[in-house]
Amino acid sequence: MPVDILVGTQWGDEGKGKLIDVLTRDVDMVVRFQGGNNAGHTVEIGDKRYVLHLVPSGIFRPGVACVIGNGLVVDPVALDEELQGIEGKGFATDSVQLSNRAQMIFVYHRIADSLNESGAATKIGTTGRGIGPAYMDKMRRTGIRAIELKYLDSLAARFRAECARYNRLFAASGVPEVDVEAELAKVLRAAKRLAPLVCDTVYSVNRAVKAGKNVLFEGAQGALLDIDHGTYPFVTSSNTVSGGACTGGGVPPQSIRNVWGVIKAYTTRVGEGPFPTELFDDTGEKLRQIGREFGATTGRPRRCGWFDAVASRYACMVNGVNKLAVTKLDCLDDLDEIAVCVAYKVNGVMTTEFPASVAELEAAEPVYEYLPGWKTSISAVDCAEKLPDNAKKYLRRMAELVDSEIAIVSVGPRRDQTFAVSSLS
Ligand code: GDP
Ligand code: IMO
Ligand code: MG
Repeated sequence: MPVDILVGTQWGDEGKGKLIDVLTRDVDMVVRFQGGNNAGHTVEIGDKRYVLHLVPSGIFRPGVACVIGNGLVVDPVALDEELQGIEGKGFATDSVQLSNRAQMIFVYHRIADSLNESGAATKIGTTGRGIGPAYMDKMRRTGIRAIELKYLDSLAARFRAECARYNRLFAASGVPEVDVEAELAKVLRAAKRLAPLVCDTVYSVNRAVKAGKNVLFEGAQGALLDIDHGTYPFVTSSNTVSGGACTGGGVPPQSIRNVWGVIKAYTTRVGEGPFPTELFDDTGEKLRQIGREFGATTGRPRRCGWFDAVASRYACMVNGVNKLAVTKLDCLDDLDEIAVCVAYKVNGVMTTEFPASVAELEAAEPVYEYLPGWKTSISAVDCAEKLPDNAKKYLRRMAELVDSEIAIVSVGPRRDQTFAVSSLS
Protein backbone atom coordinates (compact mmCIF):
# COMPACT_ATOMS: atom_id res chain seq x y z
CA MET A 1 0.00 0.00 0.00
CA PRO A 2 2.30 2.77 -1.19
CA VAL A 3 0.86 5.89 0.41
CA ASP A 4 3.24 8.82 0.86
CA ILE A 5 2.62 12.15 2.55
CA LEU A 6 4.43 15.38 1.69
CA VAL A 7 4.38 18.21 4.22
CA GLY A 8 6.06 21.54 4.88
CA THR A 9 8.50 21.58 7.81
CA GLN A 10 8.65 25.34 8.36
CA TRP A 11 6.08 28.18 8.17
CA GLY A 12 4.81 27.26 4.69
CA ASP A 13 6.00 28.16 1.18
CA GLU A 14 8.82 25.59 1.28
CA GLY A 15 8.18 24.58 -2.34
CA LYS A 16 5.60 21.84 -1.75
CA GLY A 17 3.77 22.54 -5.03
CA LYS A 18 6.94 22.09 -7.05
CA LEU A 19 7.83 18.84 -5.29
CA ILE A 20 4.32 17.41 -5.68
CA ASP A 21 4.45 18.19 -9.41
CA VAL A 22 7.84 16.46 -9.68
CA LEU A 23 6.81 13.41 -7.65
CA THR A 24 3.50 12.93 -9.48
CA ARG A 25 5.40 11.71 -12.51
CA ASP A 26 5.12 8.32 -10.77
CA VAL A 27 1.85 8.79 -8.89
CA ASP A 28 -1.78 7.81 -9.61
CA MET A 29 -3.59 10.05 -7.14
CA VAL A 30 -2.82 13.27 -5.23
CA VAL A 31 -4.92 14.16 -2.18
CA ARG A 32 -5.09 17.52 -0.38
CA PHE A 33 -6.12 16.86 3.24
CA GLN A 34 -6.40 20.19 5.10
CA GLY A 35 -6.53 23.96 4.76
CA GLY A 36 -8.19 25.79 1.93
CA ASN A 37 -7.38 28.55 -0.50
CA ASN A 38 -5.03 30.12 2.03
CA ALA A 39 -2.47 27.87 0.30
CA GLY A 40 -0.55 29.08 -2.74
CA HIS A 41 1.38 26.27 -4.40
CA THR A 42 3.55 27.23 -7.36
CA VAL A 43 4.39 24.89 -10.21
CA GLU A 44 6.73 26.00 -13.00
CA ILE A 45 6.70 24.05 -16.24
CA GLY A 46 9.09 25.39 -18.88
CA ASP A 47 8.67 29.17 -18.83
CA LYS A 48 5.10 29.02 -17.47
CA ARG A 49 4.23 29.60 -13.82
CA TYR A 50 1.00 28.33 -12.26
CA VAL A 51 -0.28 29.00 -8.74
CA LEU A 52 -2.76 26.55 -7.21
CA HIS A 53 -4.87 27.24 -4.12
CA LEU A 54 -7.31 24.33 -3.76
CA VAL A 55 -6.64 22.04 -6.68
CA PRO A 56 -3.90 19.46 -5.93
CA SER A 57 -0.56 20.08 -7.65
CA GLY A 58 -0.85 16.85 -9.66
CA ILE A 59 -3.31 18.56 -12.03
CA PHE A 60 -0.65 19.18 -14.70
CA ARG A 61 0.02 15.45 -15.14
CA PRO A 62 -2.63 13.79 -17.32
CA GLY A 63 -4.15 10.69 -15.75
CA VAL A 64 -3.45 11.68 -12.13
CA ALA A 65 -6.60 11.75 -9.98
CA CYS A 66 -6.73 14.97 -7.94
CA VAL A 67 -8.70 14.75 -4.72
CA ILE A 68 -9.85 17.60 -2.48
CA GLY A 69 -10.29 15.69 0.74
CA ASN A 70 -12.77 15.81 3.62
CA GLY A 71 -10.39 17.79 5.85
CA LEU A 72 -10.50 20.93 3.73
CA VAL A 73 -12.54 24.10 3.93
CA VAL A 74 -13.51 24.89 0.35
CA ASP A 75 -14.80 28.18 -1.01
CA PRO A 76 -17.02 26.93 -3.88
CA VAL A 77 -16.88 30.22 -5.79
CA ALA A 78 -13.07 30.29 -5.53
CA LEU A 79 -12.80 26.63 -6.59
CA ASP A 80 -15.02 27.24 -9.61
CA GLU A 81 -12.81 30.19 -10.64
CA GLU A 82 -9.63 28.17 -10.11
CA LEU A 83 -10.91 25.30 -12.27
CA GLN A 84 -11.89 27.73 -15.02
CA GLY A 85 -8.42 29.33 -14.86
CA ILE A 86 -6.70 25.93 -15.21
CA GLU A 87 -8.91 24.95 -18.15
CA GLY A 88 -8.24 28.35 -19.74
CA LYS A 89 -4.54 27.43 -19.74
CA GLY A 90 -5.24 24.26 -21.66
CA PHE A 91 -5.30 21.61 -18.91
CA ALA A 92 -8.14 19.17 -18.28
CA THR A 93 -9.79 19.20 -14.84
CA ASP A 94 -12.03 16.17 -15.14
CA SER A 95 -9.75 14.23 -12.75
CA VAL A 96 -10.78 16.48 -9.83
CA GLN A 97 -12.88 14.95 -7.03
CA LEU A 98 -14.37 17.02 -4.20
CA SER A 99 -15.15 15.25 -0.93
CA ASN A 100 -18.81 15.33 0.02
CA ARG A 101 -17.58 15.73 3.62
CA ALA A 102 -15.46 18.85 2.99
CA GLN A 103 -16.71 21.98 4.71
CA MET A 104 -17.54 25.08 2.68
CA ILE A 105 -16.37 28.67 3.06
CA PHE A 106 -18.84 31.42 2.24
CA VAL A 107 -18.66 35.20 2.07
CA TYR A 108 -19.64 35.57 5.73
CA HIS A 109 -16.57 33.56 6.78
CA ARG A 110 -14.32 35.94 4.87
CA ILE A 111 -16.00 38.98 6.45
CA ALA A 112 -15.73 37.38 9.91
CA ASP A 113 -12.03 36.67 9.22
CA SER A 114 -11.28 40.34 8.52
CA LEU A 115 -13.50 41.45 11.40
CA ASN A 116 -11.57 39.19 13.81
CA GLU A 117 -8.32 40.62 12.53
CA SER A 118 -9.35 44.27 12.70
CA GLY A 119 -10.70 44.08 16.25
CA ALA A 120 -8.23 41.63 17.72
CA ALA A 121 -5.64 42.40 20.34
CA THR A 122 -3.59 39.61 18.69
CA LYS A 123 -3.55 40.15 14.94
CA ILE A 124 -2.60 36.88 13.21
CA GLY A 125 -2.02 38.32 9.74
CA THR A 126 -4.33 35.76 8.12
CA THR A 127 -4.75 35.39 4.38
CA GLY A 128 -8.30 36.74 4.75
CA ARG A 129 -9.81 33.71 3.04
CA GLY A 130 -12.21 32.84 5.88
CA ILE A 131 -10.26 29.75 6.98
CA GLY A 132 -10.50 30.19 10.78
CA PRO A 133 -14.23 31.06 10.85
CA ALA A 134 -15.05 28.12 8.53
CA TYR A 135 -13.19 25.66 10.80
CA MET A 136 -14.96 27.27 13.79
CA ASP A 137 -18.32 26.51 12.17
CA LYS A 138 -17.18 22.94 11.50
CA MET A 139 -16.36 22.49 15.20
CA ARG A 140 -19.53 24.20 16.44
CA ARG A 141 -21.42 21.91 14.04
CA THR A 142 -23.07 24.65 12.02
CA GLY A 143 -20.91 24.26 8.91
CA ILE A 144 -22.32 23.41 5.48
CA ARG A 145 -20.64 20.49 3.73
CA ALA A 146 -19.94 20.05 0.03
CA ILE A 147 -22.60 17.32 -0.25
CA GLU A 148 -25.14 20.17 -0.15
CA LEU A 149 -23.92 21.30 -3.58
CA LYS A 150 -26.03 18.44 -4.91
CA TYR A 151 -29.19 19.54 -3.06
CA LEU A 152 -29.79 23.14 -4.07
CA ASP A 153 -33.01 23.75 -2.12
CA SER A 154 -31.51 22.62 1.15
CA LEU A 155 -28.25 24.48 0.35
CA ALA A 156 -30.21 27.70 -0.21
CA ALA A 157 -32.17 27.27 3.02
CA ARG A 158 -29.06 26.60 5.10
CA PHE A 159 -27.13 29.42 3.43
CA ARG A 160 -29.94 31.90 4.16
CA ALA A 161 -30.13 30.77 7.80
CA GLU A 162 -26.37 31.05 8.34
CA CYS A 163 -26.27 34.44 6.59
CA ALA A 164 -29.02 35.69 8.89
CA ARG A 165 -27.06 34.52 11.94
CA TYR A 166 -23.85 36.19 10.72
CA ASN A 167 -25.71 39.35 9.67
CA ARG A 168 -26.91 39.78 13.26
CA LEU A 169 -23.29 39.53 14.44
CA PHE A 170 -22.11 41.94 11.75
CA ALA A 171 -24.85 44.48 12.60
CA ALA A 172 -23.71 44.45 16.23
CA SER A 173 -20.18 45.32 15.05
CA GLY A 174 -21.26 48.00 12.58
CA VAL A 175 -20.23 45.88 9.58
CA PRO A 176 -22.44 46.14 6.44
CA GLU A 177 -24.74 43.14 6.08
CA VAL A 178 -24.26 40.45 3.46
CA ASP A 179 -26.61 40.81 0.46
CA VAL A 180 -27.99 37.31 0.97
CA GLU A 181 -29.72 36.75 -2.37
CA ALA A 182 -26.88 38.19 -4.47
CA GLU A 183 -24.34 36.01 -2.66
CA LEU A 184 -26.59 32.96 -2.86
CA ALA A 185 -26.84 33.41 -6.63
CA LYS A 186 -23.01 33.21 -6.88
CA VAL A 187 -22.97 30.05 -4.75
CA LEU A 188 -25.69 28.39 -6.81
CA ARG A 189 -23.82 29.19 -10.04
CA ALA A 190 -20.70 27.54 -8.62
CA ALA A 191 -22.79 24.60 -7.32
CA LYS A 192 -24.00 23.77 -10.84
CA ARG A 193 -20.43 23.41 -11.98
CA LEU A 194 -19.09 21.64 -8.87
CA ALA A 195 -21.93 19.20 -8.09
CA PRO A 196 -20.69 16.51 -10.53
CA LEU A 197 -17.25 16.54 -8.83
CA VAL A 198 -18.70 15.86 -5.38
CA CYS A 199 -18.31 12.24 -4.29
CA ASP A 200 -17.31 10.07 -1.36
CA THR A 201 -13.54 10.50 -1.67
CA VAL A 202 -12.93 8.42 1.46
CA TYR A 203 -14.05 5.41 -0.60
CA SER A 204 -12.25 6.43 -3.80
CA VAL A 205 -8.97 7.03 -1.92
CA ASN A 206 -9.22 3.77 0.03
CA ARG A 207 -10.08 1.87 -3.16
CA ALA A 208 -6.94 3.30 -4.79
CA VAL A 209 -4.85 2.35 -1.74
CA LYS A 210 -6.25 -1.17 -1.69
CA ALA A 211 -5.59 -1.58 -5.41
CA GLY A 212 -1.91 -0.78 -4.78
CA LYS A 213 -1.96 2.56 -6.59
CA ASN A 214 0.59 5.21 -5.72
CA VAL A 215 -1.20 7.80 -3.61
CA LEU A 216 0.48 11.02 -2.52
CA PHE A 217 -0.96 13.33 0.12
CA GLU A 218 -0.23 17.03 -0.39
CA GLY A 219 0.11 19.09 2.77
CA ALA A 220 -0.53 22.80 2.82
CA GLN A 221 1.10 25.39 5.10
CA GLY A 222 3.80 23.94 7.36
CA ALA A 223 4.34 22.27 10.74
CA LEU A 224 5.04 25.56 12.49
CA LEU A 225 1.59 26.80 11.41
CA ASP A 226 -0.13 23.66 12.75
CA ILE A 227 -2.98 24.43 15.17
CA ASP A 228 -1.40 22.17 17.85
CA HIS A 229 2.31 22.18 17.03
CA GLY A 230 2.82 25.63 15.58
CA THR A 231 3.49 28.99 17.18
CA TYR A 232 -0.04 29.25 18.60
CA PRO A 233 -1.99 31.53 18.30
CA PHE A 234 0.01 32.64 15.23
CA VAL A 235 -0.99 29.57 13.25
CA THR A 236 -3.58 28.40 10.76
CA SER A 237 -6.71 26.54 11.89
CA SER A 238 -5.92 22.97 10.79
CA ASN A 239 -3.53 20.10 11.52
CA THR A 240 -0.90 20.59 8.86
CA VAL A 241 1.32 17.74 10.06
CA SER A 242 1.34 14.26 8.53
CA GLY A 243 -1.17 12.91 11.08
CA GLY A 244 -3.71 15.23 9.48
CA ALA A 245 -3.61 13.10 6.32
CA CYS A 246 -5.34 10.22 8.13
CA THR A 247 -8.20 12.35 9.44
CA GLY A 248 -8.36 14.75 6.48
CA GLY A 249 -8.16 12.04 3.82
CA GLY A 250 -9.78 9.12 5.61
CA VAL A 251 -6.89 6.64 5.38
CA PRO A 252 -5.63 4.47 8.25
CA PRO A 253 -2.15 5.11 9.74
CA GLN A 254 -0.90 1.63 8.69
CA SER A 255 -1.24 2.61 5.04
CA ILE A 256 1.50 5.26 5.24
CA ARG A 257 4.91 4.41 3.76
CA ASN A 258 7.02 7.58 3.51
CA VAL A 259 6.69 11.04 4.93
CA TRP A 260 8.42 13.62 2.77
CA GLY A 261 9.41 16.81 4.56
CA VAL A 262 10.00 19.81 2.35
CA ILE A 263 12.58 22.09 3.86
CA LYS A 264 13.79 25.39 2.43
CA ALA A 265 17.52 26.01 2.73
CA TYR A 266 16.67 29.11 4.76
CA THR A 267 13.46 30.13 6.55
CA THR A 268 10.51 32.36 5.64
CA ARG A 269 7.26 33.33 7.28
CA VAL A 270 4.25 35.40 6.15
CA GLY A 271 1.97 37.10 8.66
CA GLU A 272 2.59 37.82 12.33
CA GLY A 273 4.20 35.70 15.02
CA PRO A 274 7.59 34.77 16.46
CA PHE A 275 10.46 33.99 14.08
CA PRO A 276 13.71 33.58 16.04
CA THR A 277 16.12 33.61 13.06
CA GLU A 278 14.48 36.50 11.18
CA LEU A 279 16.94 38.83 9.46
CA PHE A 280 16.22 42.54 9.32
CA ASP A 281 19.43 43.41 7.45
CA ASP A 282 20.69 43.37 3.84
CA THR A 283 21.01 39.57 3.87
CA GLY A 284 17.30 39.22 4.68
CA GLU A 285 16.45 41.57 1.82
CA LYS A 286 18.84 39.70 -0.49
CA LEU A 287 17.12 36.37 0.30
CA ARG A 288 13.71 37.97 -0.36
CA GLN A 289 14.82 39.27 -3.76
CA ILE A 290 16.82 36.21 -4.90
CA GLY A 291 14.20 33.77 -3.59
CA ARG A 292 11.33 35.90 -4.94
CA GLU A 293 9.81 35.67 -1.48
CA PHE A 294 6.46 37.32 -2.02
CA GLY A 295 3.25 35.47 -1.07
CA ALA A 296 1.74 33.29 -3.83
CA THR A 297 -1.74 33.94 -2.37
CA THR A 298 -1.65 37.49 -1.02
CA GLY A 299 1.49 38.96 -2.62
CA ARG A 300 2.76 40.02 0.83
CA PRO A 301 6.56 40.20 1.23
CA ARG A 302 7.71 37.14 3.16
CA ARG A 303 9.86 37.64 6.25
CA CYS A 304 13.23 35.91 5.68
CA GLY A 305 15.87 34.45 7.97
CA TRP A 306 18.49 31.75 8.49
CA PHE A 307 17.73 28.05 8.58
CA ASP A 308 16.35 27.20 12.02
CA ALA A 309 17.30 23.63 12.89
CA VAL A 310 15.61 23.78 16.31
CA ALA A 311 12.22 24.49 14.71
CA SER A 312 12.68 22.11 11.78
CA ARG A 313 13.93 19.24 13.97
CA TYR A 314 10.73 19.57 16.01
CA ALA A 315 8.74 19.57 12.75
CA CYS A 316 10.51 16.46 11.42
CA MET A 317 9.96 14.64 14.72
CA VAL A 318 6.23 15.37 14.87
CA ASN A 319 5.74 14.51 11.20
CA GLY A 320 7.91 11.39 11.24
CA VAL A 321 9.81 12.69 8.23
CA ASN A 322 12.01 9.96 6.73
CA LYS A 323 12.78 11.71 3.44
CA LEU A 324 13.83 15.33 3.15
CA ALA A 325 13.47 17.42 0.03
CA VAL A 326 15.67 20.50 0.34
CA THR A 327 14.55 23.41 -1.84
CA LYS A 328 16.02 26.76 -2.87
CA LEU A 329 19.62 25.75 -2.18
CA ASP A 330 20.51 27.90 -5.22
CA CYS A 331 19.27 31.00 -3.38
CA LEU A 332 22.35 30.78 -1.11
CA ASP A 333 24.82 30.76 -4.04
CA ASP A 334 26.14 34.31 -3.44
CA LEU A 335 26.72 34.16 0.29
CA ASP A 336 30.24 34.18 1.80
CA GLU A 337 29.07 32.32 4.86
CA ILE A 338 25.77 30.79 5.92
CA ALA A 339 24.43 30.72 9.46
CA VAL A 340 22.46 27.81 10.87
CA CYS A 341 20.59 28.09 14.15
CA VAL A 342 21.52 25.05 16.25
CA ALA A 343 20.02 26.07 19.61
CA TYR A 344 18.14 28.89 21.35
CA LYS A 345 19.16 30.81 24.44
CA VAL A 346 15.91 31.55 26.27
CA ASN A 347 16.20 33.87 29.28
CA GLY A 348 19.80 32.76 29.71
CA VAL A 349 19.10 29.01 29.35
CA MET A 350 20.32 27.07 26.29
CA THR A 351 17.86 24.68 24.68
CA THR A 352 17.59 22.62 21.51
CA GLU A 353 13.87 22.02 22.08
CA PHE A 354 11.24 24.14 20.34
CA PRO A 355 9.31 26.06 23.03
CA ALA A 356 5.50 25.99 23.10
CA SER A 357 5.33 29.49 24.53
CA VAL A 358 5.21 32.49 22.22
CA ALA A 359 6.82 34.61 24.95
CA GLU A 360 9.76 32.19 25.10
CA LEU A 361 10.04 32.09 21.31
CA GLU A 362 10.06 35.87 21.22
CA ALA A 363 12.78 35.92 23.87
CA ALA A 364 14.78 33.18 22.09
CA GLU A 365 18.23 34.28 20.95
CA PRO A 366 19.43 32.00 18.15
CA VAL A 367 22.77 30.28 18.68
CA TYR A 368 24.45 30.15 15.28
CA GLU A 369 26.99 27.91 13.68
CA TYR A 370 28.62 29.35 10.53
CA LEU A 371 29.37 27.35 7.40
CA PRO A 372 31.34 28.56 4.38
CA GLY A 373 29.40 29.47 1.23
CA TRP A 374 30.15 27.96 -2.21
CA LYS A 375 30.07 31.22 -4.21
CA THR A 376 29.12 29.65 -7.50
CA SER A 377 25.86 29.10 -9.33
CA ILE A 378 24.36 25.65 -8.76
CA SER A 379 21.10 26.14 -10.67
CA ALA A 380 22.30 23.91 -13.54
CA VAL A 381 23.61 21.12 -11.28
CA ASP A 382 21.77 17.86 -12.03
CA CYS A 383 23.24 15.40 -9.51
CA ALA A 384 24.60 15.48 -5.97
CA GLU A 385 28.13 14.55 -7.11
CA LYS A 386 28.39 17.83 -9.07
CA LEU A 387 27.52 20.03 -6.10
CA PRO A 388 30.39 22.11 -4.69
CA ASP A 389 31.91 20.60 -1.54
CA ASN A 390 30.65 23.42 0.67
CA ALA A 391 27.09 22.89 -0.60
CA LYS A 392 27.35 19.17 0.24
CA LYS A 393 28.72 20.09 3.65
CA TYR A 394 25.76 22.43 4.25
CA LEU A 395 23.26 19.74 3.25
CA ARG A 396 24.95 17.13 5.43
CA ARG A 397 24.75 19.47 8.41
CA MET A 398 21.05 20.25 7.75
CA ALA A 399 20.21 16.54 7.61
CA GLU A 400 22.22 15.78 10.74
CA LEU A 401 20.59 18.61 12.71
CA VAL A 402 17.01 17.64 11.84
CA ASP A 403 17.78 13.93 12.18
CA SER A 404 16.54 12.79 8.79
CA GLU A 405 17.90 11.92 5.34
CA ILE A 406 18.02 14.08 2.25
CA ALA A 407 16.45 12.30 -0.72
CA ILE A 408 15.87 15.20 -3.13
CA VAL A 409 17.56 18.55 -3.73
CA SER A 410 15.96 21.38 -5.69
CA VAL A 411 18.14 24.08 -7.24
CA GLY A 412 15.55 26.12 -9.13
CA PRO A 413 11.79 26.41 -9.63
CA ARG A 414 11.56 24.22 -12.74
CA ARG A 415 10.90 20.48 -12.89
CA ASP A 416 14.31 19.75 -14.36
CA GLN A 417 16.09 21.65 -11.56
CA THR A 418 15.59 18.74 -9.17
CA PHE A 419 17.64 15.62 -8.49
CA ALA A 420 17.49 12.56 -6.28
CA VAL A 421 20.27 12.13 -3.74
CA SER A 422 21.72 8.83 -2.58
CA SER A 423 24.99 10.08 -1.12
CA LEU A 424 26.39 13.47 -0.11
CA SER A 425 29.94 12.39 0.59
P1 GDP B 1 4.54 26.07 -1.46
O1 GDP B 1 3.45 26.88 -0.85
O2 GDP B 1 5.26 25.24 -0.46
O3 GDP B 1 4.08 25.26 -2.64
O4 GDP B 1 5.60 27.12 -2.00
P2 GDP B 1 5.30 28.45 -2.84
O5 GDP B 1 4.90 28.07 -4.21
O6 GDP B 1 4.39 29.35 -2.08
O7 GDP B 1 6.71 29.15 -2.79
C1 GDP B 1 7.86 28.52 -3.28
C2 GDP B 1 8.47 29.41 -4.37
O8 GDP B 1 9.80 29.01 -4.63
C3 GDP B 1 7.75 29.33 -5.70
O9 GDP B 1 7.84 30.57 -6.35
C4 GDP B 1 8.55 28.27 -6.47
O10 GDP B 1 8.47 28.41 -7.87
C5 GDP B 1 9.94 28.57 -5.98
N1 GDP B 1 10.87 27.42 -5.90
C6 GDP B 1 10.59 26.14 -5.54
N2 GDP B 1 11.74 25.42 -5.47
C7 GDP B 1 12.74 26.26 -5.81
C8 GDP B 1 14.18 26.12 -5.87
O11 GDP B 1 14.76 25.07 -5.61
N3 GDP B 1 14.88 27.24 -6.22
C9 GDP B 1 14.28 28.44 -6.49
N4 GDP B 1 15.06 29.47 -6.82
N5 GDP B 1 12.94 28.60 -6.44
C10 GDP B 1 12.20 27.53 -6.06
P1 IMO C 1 1.21 27.31 1.66
O1 IMO C 1 0.40 26.05 1.53
C1 IMO C 1 2.51 30.54 4.28
C2 IMO C 1 -0.34 31.86 7.34
C3 IMO C 1 -0.92 33.27 7.21
C4 IMO C 1 -1.10 33.60 8.67
C5 IMO C 1 -1.54 32.27 9.27
C6 IMO C 1 -3.06 32.13 9.44
O2 IMO C 1 1.29 28.10 0.41
O3 IMO C 1 2.54 27.02 2.29
P2 IMO C 1 -5.02 31.68 7.69
O4 IMO C 1 -5.48 32.49 6.50
O5 IMO C 1 -4.60 30.30 7.37
O6 IMO C 1 -5.99 31.74 8.84
O7 IMO C 1 -3.70 32.47 8.21
O8 IMO C 1 -1.08 31.27 8.40
N1 IMO C 1 -0.53 31.01 6.13
C7 IMO C 1 0.46 30.68 5.29
N2 IMO C 1 1.75 31.09 5.26
N3 IMO C 1 2.06 29.64 3.39
C8 IMO C 1 0.78 29.22 3.42
O9 IMO C 1 0.32 28.21 2.65
C9 IMO C 1 -0.10 29.78 4.38
N4 IMO C 1 -1.40 29.61 4.68
C10 IMO C 1 -1.65 30.35 5.76
O10 IMO C 1 0.00 34.14 6.57
O11 IMO C 1 0.13 33.93 9.27
MG1 MG D 1 2.80 28.86 -0.77
